[in-house]
Amino acid sequence: TQPVAYRAAILYSLGDPARVGLDHSFAWHEDGVLVVADGHIQDVGPAPEVLDRLPEGTQVITLKNRLITPGFIDTHIHFPQTEMIASYGDQLLDWLNNYTFPEERKFADEAHAARVAGVFLDELLRNGTTTAMVFGTVHKQAVDAFFTESARRNTRMIAGKVMMDRNAPEFLLDTAASSYADSRELIERWHKQGRQLYAVTPRFAPTSTAEQLTEAGRLMSEYDDLYMQTHLSENKQEIAWVKSLFPEQKGYLDVYDHFGLLGERSVFAHAVHLEQEESERMGATGSVISHCPTSNLFLGSGLFDLPSAEQHQIRVGLGTDVGAGTSFSMLQTINEAYKIQQLRQHKLHPLKAFYLATLGGAESLSLDDKLGNLLPGKEADFLVVDLEATPLMKARIQNTQNLYEKLFVLMMLGDDRVIAETYVYGECQHRREDA
Ligand code: GUN
Ligand code: FE
Repeated sequence: TQPVAYRAAILYSLGDPARVGLDHSFAWHEDGVLVVADGHIQDVGPAPEVLDRLPEGTQVITLKNRLITPGFIDTHIHFPQTEMIASYGDQLLDWLNNYTFPEERKFADEAHAARVAGVFLDELLRNGTTTAMVFGTVHKQAVDAFFTESARRNTRMIAGKVMMDRNAPEFLLDTAASSYADSRELIERWHKQGRQLYAVTPRFAPTSTAEQLTEAGRLMSEYDDLYMQTHLSENKQEIAWVKSLFPEQKGYLDVYDHFGLLGERSVFAHAVHLEQEESERMGATGSVISHCPTSNLFLGSGLFDLPSAEQHQIRVGLGTDVGAGTSFSMLQTINEAYKIQQLRQHKLHPLKAFYLATLGGAESLSLDDKLGNLLPGKEADFLVVDLEATPLMKARIQNTQNLYEKLFVLMMLGDDRVIAETYVYGECQHRREDA
């Protein structure tokens, strides 16, 4: 197909500021051009240079007062919890029993699952999130419905069927054998079909027997490039419970380690209460943490230690963890990540936060060869951002001196209202009504 060029301000990340230094961590073109063809980035750079080398007759779309960035990457979210977001009063274990399990029961009905998957994916796109790592429920038909809706929008999604064979209501339980068979069926149908990817998904250690975790490990060893997603060390009561359920293991992480579930494609949500030895093991195995700030505050789980993860060379991505998280917006997620680090006497620089929500997310999902920034060859998932979307933002942005300040204001005040357009594989999949 014919290339299309978009002219606007352009910002994308080039690396982790902690490793490459702030000045080398991003590319910024105040007047830039992004060229897209066949779902991929073909060219990017300052307008005079790119326009000069543009094939004759290429359509140039000028976006006035707009900023182009990569799509956001949400490394942990539950699609079946969309319509139970903001459920009052409980911390993790009560919240699961009182709200989550009854809500997930509804996903035995495939029509219900398909409807909610559509609402969920559209809400991600409205918020500028183009890739996510997603929990389903225990029902394989719900995950089928999710992948069907994702394929329809051509979004790159990683998702999986929850494996859960104990310590939950009878109506939500599978068995070690059925979870293996259902997961395999979904892997064969969806893994690497178009942009869809599969994650083996044991919910968390308390809801799986040793037999089921063995089956999860077997799936991981039967395919080289599957993902694994679960929860880890989110809540102190949860950690004590894991220790009582698996007394023969050294600790929470060691349960997963014992069943062969650590590695470079293994993403552990939360990890707010890791022991030193566990951080070392996470780093040594290349395992990933999904930091979920709005959820950790909402459920009163704890304050994530980002510098410690960095010191242990653990890859970290950001997750909303909706429905325990309180927003689909990665900007609002950064807002609360910043405040958590403030409470820990640590400064989260706006460029580090931007990296975590884009390229850092892609790196944590081993997708940085395809996603995360706007370098030529990457898949064309990008956003058209309106920094002056509200009267307050307009006044505040006009009172900024430099890029760092503008970016910071965007992260503190921005949400779905600033996302004017969301492009997925080169196609516009969301346009704000007045944009
Ligand atoms: N731990 C086990 N299941 C869940 C879940 O659905 N949400 C969160 N936040 N933690 C969990
Ligand atoms: Fe979660």
